[in-house]
Amino acid sequence: MRSQHGVVLVCERIDRDGTTVVGFLLGATHRTALVRDLLTRDRTALVGCAALALAGRPRTLLLFARTRLRRYTRRLRTPAAVGGPEGRVADLSAIAVDLSARDQGAGAALVRGFLARCAVTGVRTAELVTEIGGPAESFYRGLGWSPLEDVRTRDGRWVRRFGTTLPVEART
Ligand SMILES: CC(C)(COP(=O)(O)OP(=O)(O)OC[C@H]1O[C@@H](n2cnc3c(N)ncnc32)[C@H](O)[C@@H]1OP(=O)(O)O)[C@@H](O)C(=O)NCCC(=O)NCCS
Repeated sequence: MRSQHGVVLVCERIDRDGTTVVGFLLGATHRTALVRDLLTRDRTALVGCAALALAGRPRTLLLFARTRLRRYTRRLRTPAAVGGPEGRVADLSAIAVDLSARDQGAGAALVRGFLARCAVTGVRTAELVTEIGGPAESFYRGLGWSPLEDVRTRDGRWVRRFGTTLPVEART
């Protein structure tokens, strides 16, 4: 949240009982710049949180050591190199709506809010990754996102990358 490239949105329900957060979205208006910010500014906190979390989960720790440790260590050592020449792309990293508030437009509103935030930064393309055949696929397709490619994760799972283009006229 401290990075200018990070986006955190919440969706609130307001009724007689007050205000309740019923959904959230995490994303980046510039994926590689956000990762670079995280690795330079928040490196110590990230490593500390990861170590604490992995210490209590031996199976995940083993998987992490086998599939990611070397790559992550390299990136932590040279955060400025993260990003490279690849074009600027926004990233919708996570979205969830509480069961009690689903199918009422909260998810769509969060995605619209994210794209509006991206549009004012001038980014033209947004991407996300979701489970192939998972329930969120139809949600994203319904909102106009298109499948780009299927990718195998380091855990051996197959996921689908989706993209959407931001209209030029929406940018300021
Ligand atoms: C996916 C999710 C965020 C959708 O939130 P939501 O608030 O229920 O979605 P909305 O009410 O805004 O729905 C928008 C449209 O998508 C459709 N939709 C929503 N969930 C859907 C689903 N699982 N399958 C098919 N269509 C779906 C709605 O019917 C609606 O269509 P309409 O505009 O034609 O009426 C929510 O189901 C969720 O939190 N799922 C669990 C977490 C998750 O899967 N996150 C995505 C991981 S990549």
